[in-house]
Amino acid sequence: MTTPLADRFGRVATDLRVSLTDRCNLRCNYCMPAEGLDWLPTDQTLTDDEVVRLITIGVERLGIREVRFTGGEPLLRRGLVDIVARTHALGVETSLTTNALGLNRTAQALADAGLDRINASLDTVRPETFATITRRDRLQDVVAGLEAAKAAGLGPIKLNAVLLRGTNDDQAAELLRWSIDHGYELRFIEQMPLDAQHDWSRAAMVTADEIYAQLTDQFTLTPHGEPRGSAPAELFDVDGGPATVGIIASVTRPFCGDCDRVRLTADGQVRNCLFAREESDLRTALRSDATDQEIAERWVIAMLGKRAGHGIDDVTFLQPDRPMSAIGG
Ligand code: 5AD
Ligand code: SF4
Repeated sequence: MTTPLADRFGRVATDLRVSLTDRCNLRCNYCMPAEGLDWLPTDQTLTDDEVVRLITIGVERLGIREVRFTGGEPLLRRGLVDIVARTHALGVETSLTTNALGLNRTAQALADAGLDRINASLDTVRPETFATITRRDRLQDVVAGLEAAKAAGLGPIKLNAVLLRGTNDDQAAELLRWSIDHGYELRFIEQMPLDAQHDWSRAAMVTADEIYAQLTDQFTLTPHGEPRGSAPAELFDVDGGPATVGIIASVTRPFCGDCDRVRLTADGQVRNCLFAREESDLRTALRSDATDQEIAERWVIAMLGKRAGHGIDDVTFLQPDRPMSAIGG
């Protein structure tokens, strides 16, 4: 019997985001400082077996239907291919959110393990802007990783882009043209207050409306037929289709009411929201011989504190202590 991961507002989580590491080989300036962060110590990081056990509890007892692996950068996790294979064997959809660095070496193995799809981050197609944002001159390696993923059949490949005022905020149309030419589905995401440095400011954020205006200067966008459901992207056909572009207005038009996600951090904490200020510790339970049923019960309780919305606009809003790189996208 499964118990749904329901909250007090009637939402049910079926999409599990699993962060496999908080480390990253890029240093995107909207995410973390140049010197990186104090990474989680190894003994606090779940082992492969512990991760798979929690995913199995989620799928078999709690109605999880889809598992997305994230980071930091999940390709840095040594056991990734094995974790994907064991998750795929549970009969759920699997996907990966990655910066695509090194994906050219692992794309085929991931596809063979049963990975269904990838989402990759790409904020610019100009090498110098890429180096400015990520503090690494690696655009060509990312492009090679995307090509390898396409060749391995990991499509449709979605690209996530964040526009930053004064850096790449004039590059929306160019990024879309490039994505269409290469057969990738681009989605712009409004920058959220989840950076480790706490530098985010609403005034500097490039809004969904601005992105829409930039794109419609050069393309004809028409709303894509399908209903939005719990998918956050507002999807448009580009120049009559079949190409599409998504604009995710996470801040200016929040979609919290449709949220079907729950998150597990690399150190075994359940987060019921990206912006949650409390977490529920499953690692301690795992390591103190709790049964699967006891862990499932803790997880169900963890959902009851899920708030109705992220509340970024409330005067009382406080950014969570844990940055995006330690939660996952
Ligand atoms: N706001 C919006 N998106 C972000 N990402 C990282 N930090 C933020 C933020 N503060 C994106 C990354 C990646 C995905 C996991 O989330 O660019 O595509
Ligand atoms: Fe790494 Fe993603 Fe953060 Fe960039 S945004 S530093 S790729 S975790």
